[in-house]
Amino acid sequence: MKLVYSLGGSILAGKDPQSLQIYAKALNELAETHRIFVVVGGGRIAREYIEKARALGASEIFCDQIGIGATRLNALLLVAALGEAAPQDIPASYSEAAQSPYRIVVMGGLAPGQTTDAVSALLAERVGADRLIIATSVDGIYTADPEKDPSAQKLKTMTPHALVRLAMETEMKAGSRSPIDPLAAKIIERSGIPTAVVLGSKIENLRLGALGGHSGTEIRPE
Ligand code: UTP
Repeated sequence: MKLVYSLGGSILAGKDPQSLQIYAKALNELAETHRIFVVVGGGRIAREYIEKARALGASEIFCDQIGIGATRLNALLLVAALGEAAPQDIPASYSEAAQSPYRIVVMGGLAPGQTTDAVSALLAERVGADRLIIATSVDGIYTADPEKDPSAQKLKTMTPHALVRLAMETEMKAGSRSPIDPLAAKIIERSGIPTAVVLGSKIENLRLGALGGHSGTEIRPE
């Protein structure tokens, strides 16, 4: 299978070298039988730098560019953990990623106005992926923000259309914290790519999100 992962920056950044090696090992194991693409998020560094730049009067697009820099920095850290298995240069376009001869390709953000979830959904379209796995800091998609609303319930399955509706309600500023960005939701909807949203800090979710049996949210057309 061709698998595209969106790996939240909070999952990798701040981890010690041993934990990074555990992620690299899990990806290498999957790469024995599958072609793997990983899009790494910006996490804490992105948010910190964006906040500071915004306080200094930077525009939103400038803040996005800082965020992209952070995602690429985190991507390089994963490349360091993967060693020979992945190219040392982070692809600067979807075509470059798609044409790479490596079994594992790691990339970060590309264009302002979106997040790495959108990059991963577009990359999934570009490479004709069998599945998209969004490994993030929440364990699935909820009916409401579980941190603010104790009655929020996790959805086992959801249609791409419902995902778009939910994504449209979220704020779209540089570094904004939302389960999924609106562009990513629209791409998932138009391509119909089977998508899993899983807790990325649980390492086995990389495999379960791809092969089934995870406890997150599965997004698929009705
Ligand atoms: P992330 O993809 O990390 O966003 O990009 P996020 O929602 O904070 O994801 P987590 O928390 O890592 O899972 C960080 C910021 O970088 C900019 C945006 O401002 C985004 O909020 N960015 C990233 C872009 O503008 N374009 C991209 O292609 C990627």
